[in-house]
Amino acid sequence: MKCIRSEIIGWGHYLPPKVLTNDDLSKMVDTNDEWISTRTGIKSRHVSEGQTTADISVKASEMALKNAGLTISDIDLIVVGTLTPDNTTPSVAAKIGGVMGARPGMPTFDVAAACSGFVYALTVADNMIRLGQIKTALVIGAETLSNIVDWTDRNTCVLFGDGAGAVVIRAKEGDGTSQDTGILSTRLYSDGSQYNSLYVSGGVSTTKTAGFVVMNGKEVFKFAVGALAEASEAVMKDGGVSVDEVDWFLPHQANIRIIEGVGHKFGISDDKIIVTVDHHGNTSAASIPLALSESLESGKVKKGDLVVISAMGAGFTWGGVLVRI
Ligand code: UT7
Repeated sequence: MKCIRSEIIGWGHYLPPKVLTNDDLSKMVDTNDEWISTRTGIKSRHVSEGQTTADISVKASEMALKNAGLTISDIDLIVVGTLTPDNTTPSVAAKIGGVMGARPGMPTFDVAAACSGFVYALTVADNMIRLGQIKTALVIGAETLSNIVDWTDRNTCVLFGDGAGAVVIRAKEGDGTSQDTGILSTRLYSDGSQYNSLYVSGGVSTTKTAGFVVMNGKEVFKFAVGALAEASEAVMKDGGVSVDEVDWFLPHQANIRIIEGVGHKFGISDDKIIVTVDHHGNTSAASIPLALSESLESGKVKKGDLVVISAMGAGFTWGGVLVRI
């Protein structure tokens, strides 16, 4: 049956120029390349030197719009997944709209779902497109986590990085089959009872400060593999596709051992899994759009490919998206 699909028609990403290697970190805290590489798969990450989340989002968005052959005036909605906004309010999305010259009157908002922020943002935008409320959306995941990392805590400071990724999605009529291009299914989840396993220690109504990332790494690790697998399985089922039909698995980029753990659950070969954690670190809500844009830009992921996206983060939140490029 004919239906509306949200098709990805443009993608972009931006990484702040400064690169921090594991060897650089070993001069700041009691750590070493061997520990970081074997425990996480991370070799280096980018850190912002004064560029805000909105600044790097604008760069990623400019690339995405150029790729789509559109200008900002063609956009009906801007939604940003982030946990590191420029200000408590207004949203980063509103600021981006203002800086880029978006059409006055169009909706803009941020989504707070930590590392699942992009999946949440994409789901909301997809639903608005399928309801016919908008035609074209700019969906961004962007973070400057370096601002909320305690650079004296070796348990967390080696894990995170900064960056932004963006996609432009647009309404297109589909046949209602898994052969359609565009978003085929989405799923969102959360479990607030795990609030204290991963959080940022500040907040407007508590400390009145931004705070620092605090994590029970082992708890998060255990939960992450199951959550990413659950979301992946659900979107494949909803989309009516089998594991064998999927070209690429793109899980949240937090730790190579988590990524491989998800892969093993489905018995998929490593060459079907997109990995950027080695050179991005964990960029929270930016991790998926960064990896997606990089893979599309390099030609690794091609038109027609079927991609399973899955994310998991603080809350806990988790979710998945099945998309044919
Ligand atoms: O994006 C949201 C989702 N976040 C995640 O998915 C992160 C999930 N968790 C993880 O990726 C892993 O749990 C970590 C990478 C954070 C930690 O790996 P682990 O294998 O669980 O290590 P651990 O916490 O058990 O630490 C083992 C040891 C400890 O020493 P002792 O107590 O055994 O003597 C730590 O003090 O490693 C020590 N350690 C370090 N050593 C060198 C912790 N951090 C470091 C470090 N360098 N940076």
